[in-house]
Amino acid sequence: MSLLLSPFQTLIKARTGLMLEDANSIDKLASSIQVGMELECIHSPERYLAQLTENQQSFQALINRLTINETYFFREPEQIDLLVDVFIPQWQHQFGGRPIRILSAGCSSGEEPYSIVMALIERFGEAALSGFNVVGADIDSQVLAKAMKARYNEFSFRGVSVDRRHRFFDRIGDAFQLKETIRQQVAFKELNLFAPMQSPELREFDVIFFRNVSIYFDTPTRKTIQQNLSQMLTDQGVLMIGTAETLANDLGVLRLVERNGLFYFSKLSAKADGVVVPNLSKQANKLSANLVTEEQHKVPPKPLRPLAILADKQKLIHLLAEKQYDQAFPLAEALLIATPQDHQTRLLKAFILMNRKQWEAAEALLMQALQQDDWCLDALVLLGLLAKWQGRIEQAIEWFKKAVYAHSDRWLVHYYLADSYYRQQQSPLALRGFKTALQLMDKHPELSDLRWVPLDFSMAEMRFLCQHHIQKLTAQGKDASHGN
Ligand SMILES: C[S@@+](CC[C@H](N)C(=O)[O-])C[C@H]1O[C@@H](n2cnc3c(N)ncnc32)[C@H](O)[C@@H]1O
Repeated sequence: MSLLLSPFQTLIKARTGLMLEDANSIDKLASSIQVGMELECIHSPERYLAQLTENQQSFQALINRLTINETYFFREPEQIDLLVDVFIPQWQHQFGGRPIRILSAGCSSGEEPYSIVMALIERFGEAALSGFNVVGADIDSQVLAKAMKARYNEFSFRGVSVDRRHRFFDRIGDAFQLKETIRQQVAFKELNLFAPMQSPELREFDVIFFRNVSIYFDTPTRKTIQQNLSQMLTDQGVLMIGTAETLANDLGVLRLVERNGLFYFSKLSAKADGVVVPNLSKQANKLSANLVTEEQHKVPPKPLRPLAILADKQKLIHLLAEKQYDQAFPLAEALLIATPQDHQTRLLKAFILMNRKQWEAAEALLMQALQQDDWCLDALVLLGLLAKWQGRIEQAIEWFKKAVYAHSDRWLVHYYLADSYYRQQQSPLALRGFKTALQLMDKHPELSDLRWVPLDFSMAEMRFLCQHHIQKLTAQGKDASHGN
């Protein structure tokens, strides 16, 4: 199926503000559209586009497949500390007993609002909880269902001590169930931050956490969303933005204030208790266009201290998991200068370049990675994807074949190879590949990810596509044999 994506990108941006322009997002959009069409038994992209335009349920299902929900408990805890240690004691004094209202906007699977509740309990005790209303809101209805369930795996506990986990969660097999008293403290709501009118329940907040969400929008969209958020705040309310996003959100809608070394935004009309920072919107516009300019590239990155390398590599992986390729790029460059032989950094940088569509530079790095390790899974898969994203399917097949040869227990490589054969209409090979991928998904679901690079895909969607293609190709095969 050859698919013109721009009308889909336009519709999604117009309704949600989400920009889907890097190579990985484009790939994900194409496969999500394919899944949507299969699920709704629609055979033409034009008809599916019309369906998305007219039918909110179809549109919502597509959005659920496209959002990035990366999060974990007590992420950037300093801002939660600022809330419980500084703002709340002050507000409790000022508000004369009325509940303090807290919103996590773009709450994903709930780790952020639940972390706030845990911090409130630790600071003020469980009995004080009636003095707070905590709400979590997100555009993705599926991730909200997960938030309400409040059952998490290891991955959500990157920022949590064992003590805390033990205090607030019950272990159930490999998972951790949040205790009921905490689960009940957060109300979850569906919310599109880009839409103008919000329900009355989503107003009058004293603090809104809006962290690691603005990165998916361009500057005009950020401005619109900030105006919407401003209307959801009380006159004295504050907006907490992720530390790395501060500059790109200083857009003249709210005022940037610094307190205890941390930044937040408040309404222009409000009296600020911290130090008001002069407007930085000029620089913000430059940065938040999500472009690192050529001039910036020419500045040689600062050398890194050895101790910083590990932490920066973690940061780089997070940035990639959140698709912040332009922010990740200078960090990858600096890391590769500091550790030129580091295989993982080379692969991560190649992945960034691929997403910025700098194909040749990405390919050169991946070939170097293969020289370091002839059968590196990540390098082979990335080379296959690099060819696929450029529409060079025959070349993609060659790389995926090598990956299958060297890593035959990985369902992902069988899936990619089968998908490439399918695009080439090599039906018997595609059918065999999809069947193998499906068997391996059941046998070795744990062998899902690449080793070094955080590739964003959904096993559930790939399973669905395998099943669907197997059905279709089998039926085609039967028709062909009847026709003979
Ligand atoms: C990376 S997560 C951030 C989670 C959490 N705030 C944190 O910092 O860990 C971004 C979330 O923003 C949500 N989102 C994206 N666009 C949105 C919109 N227009 N309205 C509401 N939520 C949106 C996504 O569904 C996703 O769950």
